[in-house]
Order: sequence, then C-alpha cells, then structure tokens
Amino acid sequence: MIESQPVRVLIATQNAGKVREFRRLLAQVPAMFVGLEELPRITAPDEDGSTFLANAITKARYYSQHFGEIALADDSGLVVDALDGAPGVHSARYGGDGLSDMDRLRLLLKNLEGVPKEHRTARFECAIAVANPQCHGEFMHATGTVEGRIIFEPRGRNGFGYDPIFVPTGETRTTAEMSADEKDSLSHRARAIEAIVPALSGLIGDR
Ligand code: IMP
Repeated sequence: MIESQPVRVLIATQNAGKVREFRRLLAQVPAMFVGLEELPRITAPDEDGSTFLANAITKARYYSQHFGEIALADDSGLVVDALDGAPGVHSARYGGDGLSDMDRLRLLLKNLEGVPKEHRTARFECAIAVANPQCHGEFMHATGTVEGRIIFEPRGRNGFGYDPIFVPTGETRTTAEMSADEKDSLSHRARAIEAIVPALSGLIGDR
C-alpha cells in the first residue's frame, strides 16, 4: 500500500518561536508545517498595508505563489485607543529602527503620560491568512483579539514585545507575568488560530 504524503503548509515567518507556537496550536490539523528558515531564503515582501489583515494576505499570497505551496501568514500588534490606534500595524517598528522591545514600550508609556487608568484601553489583534496556489492565490482568513489596558510601569519577564505593560480585561497580571500556557489560553494569536482551524482542515482534507 502506498502511504500518501502529508500536505505541506508553509508558516510564513522567519521567527522560529512563532513557528513552534503555530505547530503547537495547529497540532490537530493533519499537515506538515514548514517554517521559512527551512526553505531557500527570498526577499520578504513589504508590509505596508494599513490593516493587520492586508499585511497577512500580502505575505500569505507572496510566499504561496513563490513556493507553489499553501502558505499561512499572520500579522499582529497592539492597538491603543488613547493613541488613535497606534502603534497598530507599526508595532514592531514603533519609534524607528534600532530600538529594543523595552525602548518601544517605554516610548509608548511616555506617549501615554497623563492618560488616566480608565482611558488606557487597548487590545492585541492578530490576523491570519492562508493562500492556496492551486486556486490562483485565493485566501481564507481569521482574526483574534484580546482586550485589556496599558498599565503605568512594566511588570513581568515572560512573553515579548508589549507584554510587560498589557493587562487583559478581567486579569490583574500582565501577559508577561503569565506562563506560555496561560497566555495561549487567551491570546489574540491563539484565538485567530482557533478560528482558522476548520477552514484549514477543510482545505487539507480536500487535497
Ligand atoms: P508581528 O506580527 O510578528 O509582525 O508582530 C508585530 C509586533 O506586535 C511585535 O513585534 C510586538 O511588538 C507586537 N506584538 C504582537 N503580538 C504580541 C504579543 O503577543 N505580545 C506582545 N507584543 C506583541
């Protein structure tokens, strides 16, 4: 009997930590997930969209068309109401190049100086897009959000990015004070992944 090969899905990120996270959260999907670091390196597309979803679609289509395989891409960031939605799609480069995560969150706290607790509402958002080269780059997508607020001083050493200043609604700890499992249970990325699982499973089942 000839065993069929599992369908390959590219995880369109160079970030090995993110590839691990996707593999863990997509364990129920019967596909072989491959990170970009396992493939010949190509120039990344510009992420110049005005929404997380636009950037996720750009990346998924670009890698899917280039490698001729199903590609899954995400884009995420922090949206702060009192800053008119900043840093938003610019979260990774807020304040310019050459800043550390801690520099960026300090800048954000400075820009929120004088804003009282009740007006420090914010959310992490994540958009995921999956592009299928067999259908001319047609894509499916899902989004996930976690609501919360920005505190006044960073707390906690776990996670990354803006985690030390973000407290999810109904929690007293920042996401940097939570374990990886606790953060997975409420994170924007976990919610977006959960939402894409049925469509992704359907696509793979049809192959
Ligand atoms: P990207 O989706 O990898 O481009 O991430 C964009 C940026 O958003 C990251 O560099 C972080 O600054 C921020 N970000 C996204 N998700 C999280 C999170 O779960 N915790 C903290 N910061 C995040």
